[in-house]
Amino acid sequence: MIKIINTIKEMQSYSNSAHKDGKTVGFVPTMGYLHEGHLSLVKASKNKSNLTVVSVFVNPTQFGPNEDFNKYPRDFEKDKALLEEEGVDVIFYPESKEIYPEHFQTYVEVTEIQKKHEGEFRPTHFKGVATIVSILFNIVKPDFAFFGQKDAQQVSLLKQMVRDLKFEINIIVCPIIREESGLAKSSRNIYLSDEEKQKALLLYNSLNMAKQMIEQGERKSSNIIKKMNQNFLAEKKIHLNYIRIVEENTFQEPEQLEKGKSYFILIACKIGTTRLIDNLLFSI
Ligand code: PAJ
Repeated sequence: MIKIINTIKEMQSYSNSAHKDGKTVGFVPTMGYLHEGHLSLVKASKNKSNLTVVSVFVNPTQFGPNEDFNKYPRDFEKDKALLEEEGVDVIFYPESKEIYPEHFQTYVEVTEIQKKHEGEFRPTHFKGVATIVSILFNIVKPDFAFFGQKDAQQVSLLKQMVRDLKFEINIIVCPIIREESGLAKSSRNIYLSDEEKQKALLLYNSLNMAKQMIEQGERKSSNIIKKMNQNFLAEKKIHLNYIRIVEENTFQEPEQLEKGKSYFILIACKIGTTRLIDNLLFSI
């Protein structure tokens, strides 16, 4: 039977006794409304750790004032059934006031990475992410924590945070899980109409077009971005936020792609009121 834990105290003592018994704890933080992307992280954790803990918590501090916190999809009973099927040991499912009691006032900021790219469009987002993930790390006390490459900048920021704050936790990154059409799975995809889903394929298609250009020898970032931009200009229903090519670890933007290095191509856009992100990792 899967165990549901709601309090910090119980979660901490569960992990303490797991460690005392010599067991490793794998942790998958989520905001719920689970899909195969989340479940791939769960599978990776089950493979690597003796015990797997999944948190389900829609974290208010990572949503901006005009974002979708209130309407973010939630279905705990379905999440629980899916996680039970995967053989997860514990769901940590706290209430908001357990995590952010009155007088809460301590935040974690990864000052450089949080400003770039996603941070330009969601200025308080990564402060909320770094804060909640630190809090969850202190509650769940995992040996391994699993994150998706879907949120590439989030991973890069959290790796930096773990280095800077000396968390004794191994961050493990899992590949992007996509629909058959190529659309990256996301809890937010349920906001999309069929027509919008169709339009959303442009993200993956233009990432692949860029990959082809690189395979054919293009090394100048601006040329690749220009070509991708043209695709989006022709599509009136999509409002592009940005296309960037960044170095895998620093998230800095090179003018020229260099042999032996790895890069992300990042895309963020809005289709109707739904914000979507996608990316592709490649090495030269
Ligand atoms: P959430 O969006 O629920 O995602 C939880 C984890 O699932 C993240 O690590 C995310 O990158 C991963 N994920 C989402 N879609 C994926 C896909 N298509 N393929 C592979 N992995 C995918 O990310 C968050 O929640 C929050 O910011 C959180 C880290 C839980 C902090 O609140």
